[in-house]
Amino acid sequence: MSNLLEGKNGIIFGALDEKSIAWKVAEECILNGANIVLTNAPTALRLGSINELAKKCKTEIISADATSIEDLENLLVKSMEIFNGKIDFILHSIGMSVNVRKKRHYTDLNYDYLMKGLDVSAISFHKLLQVAMKLDAVNSWGSILALSYIAAQRTFPSYNDMAENKAFLESIARSFGYHYGIKKKVRINTISQSPTMTTAGSGVEGFDTFFKYSDKMSPLGNASALDCAKFCVMLFSDYTKMVTMQNLYHDGGFSSMGISDDIIDSMKLD
Ligand SMILES: NC(=O)c1ccc[n+]([C@@H]2O[C@H](COP(=O)([O-])OP(=O)(O)OC[C@H]3O[C@@H](n4cnc5c(N)ncnc54)[C@H](O)[C@@H]3O)[C@@H](O)[C@H]2O)c1
Repeated sequence: MSNLLEGKNGIIFGALDEKSIAWKVAEECILNGANIVLTNAPTALRLGSINELAKKCKTEIISADATSIEDLENLLVKSMEIFNGKIDFILHSIGMSVNVRKKRHYTDLNYDYLMKGLDVSAISFHKLLQVAMKLDAVNSWGSILALSYIAAQRTFPSYNDMAENKAFLESIARSFGYHYGIKKKVRINTISQSPTMTTAGSGVEGFDTFFKYSDKMSPLGNASALDCAKFCVMLFSDYTKMVTMQNLYHDGGFSSMGISDDIIDSMKLD
């Protein structure tokens, strides 16, 4: 335990159940001395186990559909009331593709589904940042993070239109990072995380193989949700004050690999 976030106030989006990356981030933030508010979509509050997490963290939950400006305004205003002050860090840990859910092939996408997934997975990040800036809800040197995946840069066929959603998300972090940096010295980054066994992750076709392949390719193996949570804490802390507009790979080295001995061995014929 350390006190990297002592006295800091943060909002954590996306803790659905104990497998969620956001769940681990919330726990690590508390361990590091932060005050947090948890939020998720109304359906997730009904179906998930976020209440358990809130009890454990002795914190409040504010319901918000991240695609609704009204919900986001309410969330930020109420959080500032709870904290009796502004916000120092935010985690956007939200992803969903209707095309993936409905098993539509990438070459046969439904565009209404595509727009819905883009709104939830990427545009919601812009909405959050815009609402936060208009309300002047974030302290100077605050840190805002969103979670991404390497399919934004490279082709993983079964990741489907989530690849476009992540590319859009990473671009928002760079573009808004400029404006929020100039205006308020708020930093914005994305973390490109290894495949992780969660509800959203397992929704991708062939996820088990995906997971194993990535583990064999990465010299350090896949980064776990807990590893990711610790990385988030560091990025929320004052030790990374000058890091902004970056997509940071947190993937055990996967993104720098071409092929590994493990993969070669597994391809050898008996
Ligand atoms: N699991 C992986 O392999 C992996 C890898 C890299 C990046 N990521 C990213 O990490 C983030 C968190 O996903 P996870 O793997 O922890 O899965 P998860 O299913 O636990 O979390 C996804 C969250 O998004 C929330 N959400 C969906 N629609 C929403 C809406 N309209 N408003 C507010 N919240 C909404 C869900 O309720 C859920 O809590 C996502 O952005 C995901 O793409 C996951």
